Amino acid sequence: MTIKHPPGPAGNFYQQLQELRADFLAYLMNAADEHGDLVRLNPGPGTYLYLVNHPDLVRQILVTHASQYHKSAMTQKMVGRFLGNGLIVNEDESHKKQRKLAQPAFHKQRVDAYAQSMVELTQQQMQTWQPNTPFDFEASMNALTMKIVARTLFGTGVVGGTQKVGEIMEVFADAISGQFRALPLPQWLPIPRHLRQRAAVAQMDELIDEMVTDWRTKGQDNGDLMSMLLLARDEESGEGMTRQQLRDELVSIYFAGHETVAKLLSWVIFLLTQQSKIAEQVQAELHQVLDGRMPTTADLPQLTKLDQVVKETLRLYPSAWVFDRSPVVDVELAGYHIPVGATIYVSPYVSHRDKRFFDRPDEFMPERFAAGWEQKLPKYAYYPFGGGPRICIGQSFAEMEAKLILATILSQTSFELATTDPILPEPGATLRPQNGLPVKIK
Ligand code: HEM
Repeated sequence: MTIKHPPGPAGNFYQQLQELRADFLAYLMNAADEHGDLVRLNPGPGTYLYLVNHPDLVRQILVTHASQYHKSAMTQKMVGRFLGNGLIVNEDESHKKQRKLAQPAFHKQRVDAYAQSMVELTQQQMQTWQPNTPFDFEASMNALTMKIVARTLFGTGVVGGTQKVGEIMEVFADAISGQFRALPLPQWLPIPRHLRQRAAVAQMDELIDEMVTDWRTKGQDNGDLMSMLLLARDEESGEGMTRQQLRDELVSIYFAGHETVAKLLSWVIFLLTQQSKIAEQVQAELHQVLDGRMPTTADLPQLTKLDQVVKETLRLYPSAWVFDRSPVVDVELAGYHIPVGATIYVSPYVSHRDKRFFDRPDEFMPERFAAGWEQKLPKYAYYPFGGGPRICIGQSFAEMEAKLILATILSQTSFELATTDPILPEPGATLRPQNGLPVKIK
């Protein structure tokens, strides 16, 4: 039987690899623009790689037929090497069980209790900024969001210091991003990059051990994630989580919980430096609602402009700009046969710029998120936090954290860019500004 393949970009594997390496985002956008709802990319002989480009297909994969898919073998391997079998790559029953254990730490009531720490740590971070002295806003947000995860979810300071953890996370992010730049070399090759990666994994393991010891010496159930994971017992066997599983969950949440929010905050500030009118509207709203005091969760429902800015930023620059799935059985998508083991890219970045659903898709127009508009969009035209059983566990945490941090900062400060170079998105483990975000306080 001959199989009918979905359409896709012309050119052999090497030509496509060149294009993809030159500009991955443009490569995917062009593929979607030119070839429709399901595109076959050409990653080499005998391999199957697709991009889905329609809300109904995204919904089919993430939600209605979620049980037919796992993460791809490549993601399992690349992410698994650093984050182990934590929630991000765990599958089936084991995923369900771990998710159930972690979920209560992310319930709204719990998340609200983290608010004060988020504001306090933001104020401390702001004290490191000097007027008239350019600094890298992205690096500053990385440090801040890392401290927030450590304090709120793990109930500890950042053991080993933010700089050290930051360096380790940077190595992880760089390695995971590598899959979008080049074909990975075999891990056993003792090249400097691989040696650095191995050392980072060993250092992270040590730090997690220290963190667990630190928690045990304080020894109390704070109701935070760390307590939940450490105290969890299997209903039948009564056994706790293995040391390895605990390590994997903690590293995964450390990783997923700080990078994504730090990038979102950086893109918000970048976009506001480009649109002073919108920045002024956000600040006017903050002055009116806060009147000079620090924000609390009770203020958030009134900060509608800020909410629109965050949503529109996640539309244009979704931190999790692409993720993947691989069918565990042969499936049919848009009338095409997709073989078991294929890789399917699901890309919020591509979907969120689809002109069929978004007017002037490349423009920053927060007002499009005025009341009621999002509800009229087809489901899964806009999905910065994914969907279905793997929807981001940290969504409420992230939304609240981002808004509290922005409200704290923007009610006191505004910024201008401290570079004339263009600020371009670099697609890696998250979507980040290519050379950081150099800014100056106005
Ligand atoms: C702006 C911030 C964030 C964005 C845009 C974001 C986005 C996403 C997306 C799209 C997924 C689904 C990936 C997939 O289906 O393959 C996901 C999963 C996940 N996120 Fe987030 N995330 C953010 C913040 C956070 C935070 C703050 C945490 C934790 C504190 C977190 C922890 C996780 C975890 C553990 C998963 C895996 C869930 C599972 O597979 O069961 N994320 N995130």
